[in-house]
Amino acid sequence: MSPRGATSQTPAMSRTLLLLLLLLRGLAAGRPQAAATPRLKLSFPELRARHGLRLFSLEHSCCYEALLLDEERGRLFVGAQNHLLSLALDDISQRDRKIYWPAPVEWREECNWAGKDITAECMNFVKILHPYNRTHLYACGTGAFHPVCAFIEAGQHAEEPVLKLDPHHTEDGKGKSPYDPRHTAASVLVGEELYSGVATDLMGRDFTIFRSLGRRPSIRTEQHDSRWLNEPKFVAVFWVPESEDPDDDKIYFFFRETAVERQQGLGKTSFARIGQICRNDMGGQRSLVNKWTTFLKARLVCAVPGPDGADTHFDELRDVFLLQTRDKRNPLIYAIFSTSSSVFQGSAVCVYTMADIRRAFLGPFAHKEGPNYQWVSYQGRVPYPRPGMCPSKTFGTFGSTKDFPDEVIQFARHHPLMYNPVLPHGQRPLFLQAAVPYTFTRIAVDRVTAADGHYDVLFIGTGMYWHRMEPLLLEELQVFQDASPIISLQLSSKRLYAGSATALAQLPLHRCGAYGKACAECCLARDPYCAWDGNTCTRYVPNTKRRFRRQDVRNGDPNVLCSEDPRQDTVPQKQLYGVEGSTVFLECIPKSLQAHILWTYQRTLSDPQREVQMDERVVRTERGVLLRSVKRSDAGLYLCHATEHGFTQPLLRLSLEVIGAWQATGVASAGDPRLAAGIPRKVWYRDFLQLVERPPLGATDKVCQRLWSQGRPPPAPRSPAGPPGRGQREEPRRARRRRTHEGPRAERGPRSASPW
Ligand SMILES: *[C@@H]1O[C@H](CO)[C@@H](O)[C@H](O)[C@H]1NC(C)=O
Repeated sequence: MSPRGATSQTPAMSRTLLLLLLLLRGLAAGRPQAAATPRLKLSFPELRARHGLRLFSLEHSCCYEALLLDEERGRLFVGAQNHLLSLALDDISQRDRKIYWPAPVEWREECNWAGKDITAECMNFVKILHPYNRTHLYACGTGAFHPVCAFIEAGQHAEEPVLKLDPHHTEDGKGKSPYDPRHTAASVLVGEELYSGVATDLMGRDFTIFRSLGRRPSIRTEQHDSRWLNEPKFVAVFWVPESEDPDDDKIYFFFRETAVERQQGLGKTSFARIGQICRNDMGGQRSLVNKWTTFLKARLVCAVPGPDGADTHFDELRDVFLLQTRDKRNPLIYAIFSTSSSVFQGSAVCVYTMADIRRAFLGPFAHKEGPNYQWVSYQGRVPYPRPGMCPSKTFGTFGSTKDFPDEVIQFARHHPLMYNPVLPHGQRPLFLQAAVPYTFTRIAVDRVTAADGHYDVLFIGTGMYWHRMEPLLLEELQVFQDASPIISLQLSSKRLYAGSATALAQLPLHRCGAYGKACAECCLARDPYCAWDGNTCTRYVPNTKRRFRRQDVRNGDPNVLCSEDPRQDTVPQKQLYGVEGSTVFLECIPKSLQAHILWTYQRTLSDPQREVQMDERVVRTERGVLLRSVKRSDAGLYLCHATEHGFTQPLLRLSLEVIGAWQATGVASAGDPRLAAGIPRKVWYRDFLQLVERPPLGATDKVCQRLWSQGRPPPAPRSPAGPPGRGQREEPRRARRRRTHEGPRAERGPRSASPW
């Protein structure tokens, strides 16, 4: 993340996206892949105008990196540049409370003397925000390369929104917040103790996994030992219980670092890691004093198996989301990665189980030995208690790590790395994006209960825009106007919150209305958040036994679910006129980007339907079909169908009437003798044709509708005020705009209003 100016250099066309992925559990292998596009793409203006996107940004600030969701207080607490904010969860754009928390002038000057940019880096970037107790939060910031922390009074209830920082009671943030605003901080606050993974010096060379705050002495990793940590970048920290006994609780650290076990000569390689420590680690008695005695780490693999073991590895761990399940001891770990290779670029999602993680820590230790000094699996005797085990009643009689035999401490000190890596569930990524120069940046996961089971919906923030998409993609959302990467992501039970360098965005979790106005469209969306309630596509609420709730996420088959839907018969109708020899456009745009359009034709309702054949004269375009040089024989009924997921649904019925060329051109000049001779029908045609030909097609309907609603009979051709003429030029354009938003479905069938 760059603290400032992240948007100024990015090209105008690029954008940041939020991807919504649906995971279909038990998806049979070898099942045909769906289209490689999301069902729905919503642009920033659309999301803003129609789907409840709300934005917040502060003047003279940036970098909304620390988000803390507090559903009890109904607040979203935010850490940004020089500010702490308290926003209303239901509308972040309203009622903000803020604390101005800059770095003192002396620190900024020191920062500047150290060669840092005073206007960009020498600020207080608030990176850490945790709930501390019932009344207070704990926050830390970079303090202009002088990390600082403070307790923030936040009030007890939603009714008393307080936000107070006592400037006289700030504390040293070393080992808690990074110095450099470009570095991320990973930490978790458990029982008034802070566990953090961070750089602890100005130069960013000394890294530590650190426990601070609370009553016990601070504990850290061994210093300057590349076997423990080697230029790590910390990503996330979680607390996971291991048994009923809190003495077995562990803290897991996710990071990436330069791989020590990589053979020399192959250059620097980054590996993704998971590290563990015991919550009750008190350090060693004679050696490893105030250092971890239970620290172990293993490689996290996220790779696509290739032929002859030539796997494609995603090693740059970007973010981790811990999805709680019913069993507190066994959450699911969702992680996003990118590649570190300059040749192959891509991003992937892998999921890990705690069982696989624990197995790796119980496996062989990695050990450096032999003539080539290589990393091998340690085959010797492992001392008791086995390093990595917490002192507890579960596994022995040790009351504290200080009681561990020296032999155990020495072994732990020299063997922090496990030999076996942790492999992802299913041995491969759940989802990946290849050959795109952009990366996934943040992930959040929501477990949604649907009518046919539960589904995990993944929200993935990206660095920038791309266009190739994978099968399970539900939506592609542009939540920010500019291209600043998404640097924070939080889910509440109702909404999604995303932060970038320039703004904060809030969005409802579901956009059921966007799928269309028919049962089939709702059903085809296969969105676990949405169901057909008999009238509209709305939020699915489990356990409500309403007769009309229709949802089938797994199969999404409207033939089964929507068969008794009376709306299926109400296909919108439209009348079109074409002049012989001119061009007519049959417009029909499906809501879903995964749908294919099929056109059929019949001369009259009683004739058989046949598929419209495309050729040089009949041209398929993105928005419909172009009929060039229209013939009289083109007249008839055109039906536009959308085909998706094996289901075909009619979208629009167009009735084309072809008018002889003489009728139109013959009256083109006002001085035409036939006019004087009283053939007014053609005069009327002339004006009418200007409407159908020049402005977009929607104009006709709009005009018909408008005339009809005035309660007047259709205009007599002869009437002086009669034909809809130039005075209404603005009208068609507005009609057009409305239609592009709503699609053809929103059109009224003009049949009944037809004046002829
Ligand atoms: C929460 O912690 C703060 C800072 O230590 C302290 O001042 C406050 O009294 C505590 N509140 C409660 C309810 O314990």
